[in-house]
Amino acid sequence: MERTLLIVKPDAAERNLIGQILQRVELARFRIVEMRLVRLSSERARKFYAVHEGKPFLDGLIEFMSSGPAIAVVLEKENAISDLRALVGTTDPAKAPCGTIRHDFGHDVQRNSVHASDAVETAATEIEFFFPGTQDESGSR
Ligand code: RTP
Ligand code: MG
Repeated sequence: MERTLLIVKPDAAERNLIGQILQRVELARFRIVEMRLVRLSSERARKFYAVHEGKPFLDGLIEFMSSGPAIAVVLEKENAISDLRALVGTTDPAKAPCGTIRHDFGHDVQRNSVHASDAVETAATEIEFFFPGTQDESGSR
């Protein structure tokens, strides 16, 4: 079993798409193992996206991600990381394959409705960022 982090971003939360996005995730047989509504400060958003320091889109991304509530979700499944990336689609909704979450719900390349961890190491770091200490548990909660 593998875990990954999904964020339903502020653009989707604002358009009342949380339920529809989580429904797709559940239908794809991911298990929700942690979930929380989060309001990121710009400082927290900058920390989360530290990997993008220096990129031209970073300031806009931080402003967007701290603009309203988002939902942080830990999902579990075999091949969770790559399966969620496939379900989510490419960064730009205009180029994302038909039927993916970003194709169907994303607004533009920034307001693309969801985040999904891209590797084992980043998934662990990102889960720790929102749900510290939970990865040591062996499903006892
Ligand atoms: P994510 O991290 O959110 O799952 O998305 P990703 O891997 O597909 O894309 P990444 O390159 O990690 O970019 C992170 C987020 O930054 C925004 N972005 N804006 N204006 C732009 O050209 C641009 N490029 C990226 C998007 O919100 C993207 O998801
Ligand atoms: Mg990324």
